[in-house]
This record gives sequence, structure tokens and C-alpha cells, in this order.
Amino acid sequence: MSNTDLLASLQASFIGRDTEYPTVDGKRGPRIYLDSAASTLMMAPAYDVGHEFLVHYASTHSDLHYAARGASHAFEWAHESVLEFVDADPDQYCSFFAGSGATAGFNRMAASLSCARPERDIVLVSEMEHHSNDLPHRHHCSHVVHVPCLGEFERYGGLDMDRLREIFDEHGEKINYIAVTGASNVSGAITPLAEVAKLAHAVGAYLLVDASQMIAHAPVSMNDADIDVLVFSGHKIYAPGSPGAVIAKKSVLSEIKPAELGGGMVDDVYIAEYMPTQTLPDREEAGTPNIVGAITLGAVLDLLTKAGMDKVREKEIGLIDFAWNGLKQIEGVSVYGPNPEDVPRTGTIAFNIKGFDHGLTAAALNDYYNIQVRNGCFCAHPYVRELLKKEMWDMDIDPDAPNAEADVERKRGMARASLGLYTTRADLEALLVAVRDLVSRRDEILSLYEPIGSNGYRHTKFEPAANDIFDPERSLQSYLAQPA
Ligand SMILES: Cc1ncc(COP(=O)(O)O)c(C=O)c1O
Repeated sequence: MSNTDLLASLQASFIGRDTEYPTVDGKRGPRIYLDSAASTLMMAPAYDVGHEFLVHYASTHSDLHYAARGASHAFEWAHESVLEFVDADPDQYCSFFAGSGATAGFNRMAASLSCARPERDIVLVSEMEHHSNDLPHRHHCSHVVHVPCLGEFERYGGLDMDRLREIFDEHGEKINYIAVTGASNVSGAITPLAEVAKLAHAVGAYLLVDASQMIAHAPVSMNDADIDVLVFSGHKIYAPGSPGAVIAKKSVLSEIKPAELGGGMVDDVYIAEYMPTQTLPDREEAGTPNIVGAITLGAVLDLLTKAGMDKVREKEIGLIDFAWNGLKQIEGVSVYGPNPEDVPRTGTIAFNIKGFDHGLTAAALNDYYNIQVRNGCFCAHPYVRELLKKEMWDMDIDPDAPNAEADVERKRGMARASLGLYTTRADLEALLVAVRDLVSRRDEILSLYEPIGSNGYRHTKFEPAANDIFDPERSLQSYLAQPA
């Protein structure tokens, strides 16, 4: 299959892309899934590989029976697939799987790096970070300096490289590492990673990249950008249920002690002592791994490497421009983050409709148009506060108020439309039509919803029950009702 055909076939392959749900008008129709920044849909051919592996299921770390040999081979293949996908030279880099998602990887690296280099007690973290790439560093490192972004108010975003240079000059060899996102999960703003790596390496600091929002959207080359550590989650790249992936220079890993201990990572254990193995990645993968998840992720990455991430990026840029410009042109809609012409971005667009709280926008898009978007502060509270600062002031609300009242929570946030490989121009046209329609029906929509919880909204006349949507008990019932 040519890579163009492969890409087209993959785009059409996602499980649940067309799942039907009811809408307020009493109809049912296929959803439009624009919540990929939270979690992407599952790529069917990769799911099939993981499923097929179950026929041979056995644990890894042995090759003396057939199934264990197959499992060990497939698990090793998944590691190689990860390295190839992020263009990391296997002589220089090692990949390993770490717990659930990227969060496990950040906690692991923050704990290990702060122990390995206590004399370097400063860590730099950008102000755009998801809490997962901020709080572990605050917890494990004695001093975190937050690096600001460019621009102000709703255009804030894109790392301020001049300020970063000054911070590196100021703290020099006291800096252990800089933790920065490859792309923001709020605005999609992309970080110039090769430039950041140069600044970091000039003072002997490491560059730790959160690739969660970049991995499915743009090619990554650890070799070219000289990235020391890169972390991402499989559920952000079409492999829900996979473990988090960490790719690190072997020279960095050789400096740290394993943070997790248990089976599979030691050469020998006595009552008096134990000897962690020096073999990588085994030393970093204590316990029985999530083999099925790793193989499924390996399969996604292998397929996308063959299809070409440059082609994925090319297709997405056209869609971003279309959606960004379309939303910006709607009177009464604010779109956040730097302009795509100033700072390149991935397909994540945060917006608000004037007069609508973010929760109401998300609820109405779902209930009336079957469009699924996320809302809130997206676990990036400092960045979202900055983007909303002026709007909150205009509403006479202090965006930095630590004990925000429920009303503030309702206003402090955005709706976020985020793209995946399955997103089409027709999906985005439907989003634009829906947003225009909501703007024109503002008073009617406001009168039909009531607030619930800290930032949710519920339609007063239409509310399908959660267990009508999916009920594991019901799925089991159909199995149990089969004739013996
Ligand atoms: C930029 C970014 N970093 C980190 C994470 C955390 O990923 P996980 O929940 O898989 O650990 C997310 C999840 O939304 C994210 O968007």
C-alpha cells in the first residue's frame, strides 16, 4: 500500500468514530469527536494486533516456551517502534514503558533527576504546562522557576525565548533540567525544542519534553533536536489502554538510580543486599508490564511511521487554519493563544462564546449538534488564568483568587475543540455552523439549561441517563443470556 493510501485507510479505521447518540430534537446521529486532546479514539488495525496477541498471551522475560518467546519478542518490538517513531538512535537512546500515562513518566524522571544531581537544585518549567509536567517537579525539586510565554491576555503563549535565555544566564549551572511541553494542550502552541536544547546543554542542563500533545500531530526527531528525555501517553495517540512511554538518552539513565523496585529489574537479591540490573530497559521496568497495551501502541506507531507524520502534519495544518479563521470570524467568539502565523500550533483550539459559560457551550454542542468537546481549565490552570485575565477583569472577577467561588469556576475556563487523524473538514464545518447557531439562539439556549456541580450545565427537558449510553452490566447480560 502506498503511504497516501495507508493514511487514507487509517483515517477511516477508527473505532467509535460514528457512534450514534440522541439529540434534543429527538433524532439520533453519528457523533463528531473533537476531544482528541483529552484522549484519542482507538485505531482499529492496532487494536487488532493487540487482540491477536492475546491468542499467544504469556508474560515476558522468558523464551523457553513458545508463548513467552512470542510475548518477549513483541514487547521488544514495541520498544523499537517507539524509538523509530521519535527518531531516536538506539545506540544513544532507550525507551521504556512507565505506569499509566505521561504522568508516571514525569514523576519518575523528576524523582530520579533530583536525586542524581542535588547540586543543581533549580528546575525550569514553562507557564504553559499541564499540571502533570509541573507538579512532579515542584514536589521533587527544591526550586522551580516558571518560564513565561510571549504576548499577553488572550494571545499569551509560545515560550518567551529571550526571557528563557536570561533565566539560563542568571542560574547557569544550578539548573538541573528544563521541563517543557512540545505543544500546549490549551492553545496548541509549539515550542522550538532544538533551540531550547541548545540553551540547556550550554549550561549542562537536560531538556525534558512533554510530547503528549505533539506526538499525534507532528513529526518528532529526538536526534535532530538533541532532546534528552521525552514522555508521552499512548491514549493521546490512538492506543487507549497503553502505558506511558519514556525515551531517554542512555547517558542520562546511567546517572540515575531506578525509582521503582521489584521483579524483573534486579540481577540478584540476598537478604542483606540486592543488585539492580544494568540492562536497559529492564532496569526501568519493574513488575509485569502492560504487554498488550505496549504492543498496541507499538502497532500504532509502526503504522504512522509508514504513513509519514509529515503527511499527518500537512493535512492538519489546513484544518487548523480553517477552524481557527472560521471561529475568529464569528462575532462574539473569542479564540485563545497566539495566532498560527506567529507561533506554529497543533490542532487544539480553545474558545468561548460571549454570554455562554464554557460548560454551557460544551453541553449545548453535545445536546443539539452531537459535537463532543471538552471544557474547563484542562489541568493547565496558570496558563488558562493568564489567557482569561483581561476577560475576568472586565467581568470584575479576580482571576487569581485562590478560593474561587462557584461562579468564578463557571466563568474561568474555555471550550476546547481538538483534532485527530479522523477529523475531517466536514466535522469542522459542522462545528462552525453549530457555534454560529448557538450565538444566534443565545437567549433561548440560556433559558433551557440549569447549572450543575462546579462548572456543568444540564438541559432542563433532555437528559439521557449515563447507563443508557453505555452500561457494562448490560454488556455482561447479553453474554450471560446466551444459551449454554
Ligand atoms: C500536555 C499534557 N501533558 C500531560 C498530560 C497527562 O497525561 P496522562 O493523563 O496520560 O498522564 C496531558 C493529558 O491531558 C496533557 O495534555
